[in-house]
Amino acid sequence: MEETSISEKKQSLLDKIQDVSFRRGIAYPTGEIYGGLSGAFDYGPLGTLMRLKLINFWREYFVKDENHFEVEGSLIIPEKVFEASGHLAKFNDPLVQCKSCKSMFRADKIIEDKLDQNADGLSPEELDKIISKNKLKCPSCEGDFMNAREFNLMLKTEVGSVSGNVAYLRPETAQNIFTSFKRISHSMRAKLPFGVAQVGKVYRNEISPRQFIIRVREFKQMELEVFFAEEQLDDPPRFEELADELLPILTREQQAKGIEEPILISAADAVKKKILPNAAMAYYLVKEKILFEEVGVNPELIRFRHMLPKETPHYSGGNFDLEVKLSIGWTEVVGNAFRQQHDLTSHEKASKTKMGIQHTTGNVIPFVIEPSIGVGRTMYCVLESCYRETDDRDWTWFQFPSTIAPYDVQVCPLMKKDGLEEKALEIFEELKSEGFETIFDSSGKIGKRYARSDEIGTPYCVTIDYDTLQDDTVTIRDRDTMEQIRVPQEELPDAMVLLLTGEYGLKELEDLLKESTE
Ligand code: ATP
Ligand code: GLY
Repeated sequence: MEETSISEKKQSLLDKIQDVSFRRGIAYPTGEIYGGLSGAFDYGPLGTLMRLKLINFWREYFVKDENHFEVEGSLIIPEKVFEASGHLAKFNDPLVQCKSCKSMFRADKIIEDKLDQNADGLSPEELDKIISKNKLKCPSCEGDFMNAREFNLMLKTEVGSVSGNVAYLRPETAQNIFTSFKRISHSMRAKLPFGVAQVGKVYRNEISPRQFIIRVREFKQMELEVFFAEEQLDDPPRFEELADELLPILTREQQAKGIEEPILISAADAVKKKILPNAAMAYYLVKEKILFEEVGVNPELIRFRHMLPKETPHYSGGNFDLEVKLSIGWTEVVGNAFRQQHDLTSHEKASKTKMGIQHTTGNVIPFVIEPSIGVGRTMYCVLESCYRETDDRDWTWFQFPSTIAPYDVQVCPLMKKDGLEEKALEIFEELKSEGFETIFDSSGKIGKRYARSDEIGTPYCVTIDYDTLQDDTVTIRDRDTMEQIRVPQEELPDAMVLLLTGEYGLKELEDLLKESTE
């Protein structure tokens, strides 16, 4: 076995994942041949397939399963919307600039990195005090910092041929839903409670984008605004289906004691003990936990942290954000806000449009629960959770579940000659037409092809060899165990369904096939 060099040993998990992602077309820098653009990444063919699978899973589980409505709003939004929502005044991060080299940083992140203490939500004055007391210097040149100041994260633009018509690229998808609340509820004849979902791009002029796709300036969110009458918040539909599920919650009291590991408590008890604001919030937290597990994130690395008052967004009456313990530390991946009536009442006041909806108790302004899932950060969590370096092979691999693996199956001929490639292409086309996400690989030696397939986490490889030409059987190789079985070509699509749904393992499938031929 080759010796690992010191530089390889030191490479962080994030660097390793970034390397594979660049090489294998998961995600790579935008405009890379010109040096890239900080905080901007393109998703390549594999990353795009994974994102589609993630979004489709969310759509099935968070939208269709709940009978919520899905919309697609404009990315360019007039200034008045953000004046009313409070983003213009309050959607800020604290910025510090170096007096010498003029580099700019997020003041709270400088403190977190250098002193390992949470500085989220502190005022510029409080941050200045910590920076000067601890003599923190510019990471680029060791220069002194100027005073911290608030920096608005929205990307401003002007629209039309006449100057002065200011608009913003939306920093969250939510505002399209709030401003169109009347249109949506009337056109769909919606009755409370109901949800409006949206998946789409958002833009934030992050002061210091970093950590690959974790902190970027353009990213996709899968958001849900669920509207409830006040008395429905503790009695959401179908709560009893999930009430006994355990939630890993980190309370404010635990945080005050310096505890990092969450307590496990059932959704019903978390509501009863008033740890969570209401059952509606508990219901969506359980659904998120299930979604994360289904797409391959280790559930033991998840917690729902009650944000401290100073970290809570201006529009929220309480946030329980889903955080994942990554190699870079606990990282927020989903913002779960109890937005109450904040947005609808703000827009009613500013636009003079009545935002109430008819309900059994009269005309009411609904309360809002908002689970806001970052697509890129979720993808990164999946990549880290599924990354494997094991003694049984010389290559790194991803143990993606089939819910998220870019391909379901790779098809390859043992050799390119003697009609094997033609037969393999026939099987490849057949699997594609059956709806499997399939990739064909005939270059290099078969061992290399298995390695390439494992490296991108394809669960199964189908190989066409000389026996196939004789008896119309193919081999299926399992990525996780590297074991193989032979399957008749005509049984292959059904076999793939049984394997990909997890109903059967390779050995059980082999037994089933034996039984059916006996
Ligand atoms: P952070 O504190 O890390 O800046 P945030 O609290 O601003 O995050 P939210 O406003 O709650 O994040 O946004 C909802 C979700 O959108 C986040 O949980 C995250 O998954 C995603 N998100 C937010 N900012 C970014 C970013 N700059 N790059 C990638 N994803 C992001
Ligand atoms: N819509 C919530 C957020 O983006 O923070």
